[in-house]
Amino acid sequence: MAVNEDVFKKVISHAKEFGFVFPSSEIYDGLSATYDYAQNGVELKNNIKKYWWMAMVQMHENIVGLDAAIFMHPSTWKASGHVDAFNDPLIDNKDSKKRYRADVLVEDHIEKINGKIDKDIKKAQKRFGDAFDEAEFRATNGNVLRRQSEIEKIKDQLKAVQENEDLEAFKQLIEDLGIVCPVSGSKNWTEVRQFNLMFGTELGSVAGDAATIYLRPETAQGIFVNYLNVQKTGRMKIPFGIAQIGKAFRNEIVARQFIFRMREFEQMEMQFFIKPGTQEKWFEYWKETRMKWHKSLGFGDEAYRFHDHIKMAHYADNAADIEFKFPFGFKELEGIHSRTDFDLSQHEAHSGKKLRYFDPEINESYIPYVVETSIGLDRMFLAILSTALKEEDLGDGKSRVVLNIPPALAPVKAAILPLVKKDGLPEKAREIMSVLKFDHNCQYEEKDTVGKRYRRQDAIGTPYCITVDHQTLEDNTVTIRDRDTMEQERVTIDDLANIIAKKVSMTSLLMQN
Ligand code: GAP
Repeated sequence: MAVNEDVFKKVISHAKEFGFVFPSSEIYDGLSATYDYAQNGVELKNNIKKYWWMAMVQMHENIVGLDAAIFMHPSTWKASGHVDAFNDPLIDNKDSKKRYRADVLVEDHIEKINGKIDKDIKKAQKRFGDAFDEAEFRATNGNVLRRQSEIEKIKDQLKAVQENEDLEAFKQLIEDLGIVCPVSGSKNWTEVRQFNLMFGTELGSVAGDAATIYLRPETAQGIFVNYLNVQKTGRMKIPFGIAQIGKAFRNEIVARQFIFRMREFEQMEMQFFIKPGTQEKWFEYWKETRMKWHKSLGFGDEAYRFHDHIKMAHYADNAADIEFKFPFGFKELEGIHSRTDFDLSQHEAHSGKKLRYFDPEINESYIPYVVETSIGLDRMFLAILSTALKEEDLGDGKSRVVLNIPPALAPVKAAILPLVKKDGLPEKAREIMSVLKFDHNCQYEEKDTVGKRYRRQDAIGTPYCITVDHQTLEDNTVTIRDRDTMEQERVTIDDLANIIAKKVSMTSLLMQN
């Protein structure tokens, strides 16, 4: 656990030091759970968006895009259920005046018990040395078994209070477990209340309830309210999908873990409109399709797992998460939800407008069912950054820090480096740059030794460094250094554009989808 916490700290500081992610408004000490994407971060983010958009829209004849407004008519959120049901259970400590999510307090308590189990295991490991068998110890040691059954019991209790939405029982559970406020150390808790996660603001100059509008908490509703416009103008036939990338806002109470849980974040969502009764088939199809998209990045199959929901969101009849192995453990990266006709029926009822699709194959109108895929762009960014960051031992006391970002997603595709800052090498390097820059984001660098420049490019994940040396002037060749193998190959300048284009193309990733 401690080791992974160290890894996570390194990811955060690397992101800042090398221009990927900065705390928002840092000169004013930042704003909690809000971050800015810096010069390299914005490139990586744009590349992730492009990879998703190509896989979802360009590769599917029956999926089209949309870019809806963040502000929507307030009735949207009444219809979608977000005004009434998009809540987190909150509890305040009366002494510290700090506010917590009740479920997180219980989950943290479970983590503490897990920590005790880890300690027991470490102690035993020390005692028994090489002969230690962790699986056997876990299965037989009295202390571990007792703690494990305590954890299971708490999990069951938590699930019950959540499912029954029993706020009194929730508070009782916190008291029974003897949970104290991490700041004041006291057990002086308020009642548990439901807290709506939507940010409200006011439209124009009119004050009062009627004018309250919300910053959208999900991009999906922009798709639902436009579904018939798109279907008709695009002459789309069911099954078809609408994809969108955009900002979403949630007033998260527990906002921590860097860009994993933010108050302003970005989603990449796709709603797939289907015939009622076919939802099971499409749910399985999209689970599998989205998993392939993730795995094509080459981070290893063991980095992903499905988590099937037991407690559904208010709109779903089936739901699964794709979880990723972040430095702080397996956590949700993407959600796949079978949303039935919940949203469209609700919008039909609240707007009074028919939202039915006429199916020419069966000569009937119906409200389509929807299977949704919803991935957090910022979480995808964190998944890539935290997996790509490596400290490599190069032997002889040397080491390097490298970001093994898949070349197609790397912020800078190629760095063009004159070996020395004289003898006409900078001019030749600039010539190469002036050709490559039309197709790729490239960097020209002449300061410091070429070794130092390689290290700087490794640290931002540049897959290829092109070095112009004295031989270049004689035979029009350069060396290309591969970031991962550190091997260099000599090629002619005439072939350069083709070689780089092939190496950084998204095609090979998309072909695995
Ligand atoms: N339209 C369905 C929906 O919004 P969700 O599971 O609440 O479902 C989808 O969110 C995805 O959005 C999550 O899997 C996660 O990747 C991302 N996400 C949700 N809340 C987030 C937050 N506060 N910060 C960053 N990403 C978040």
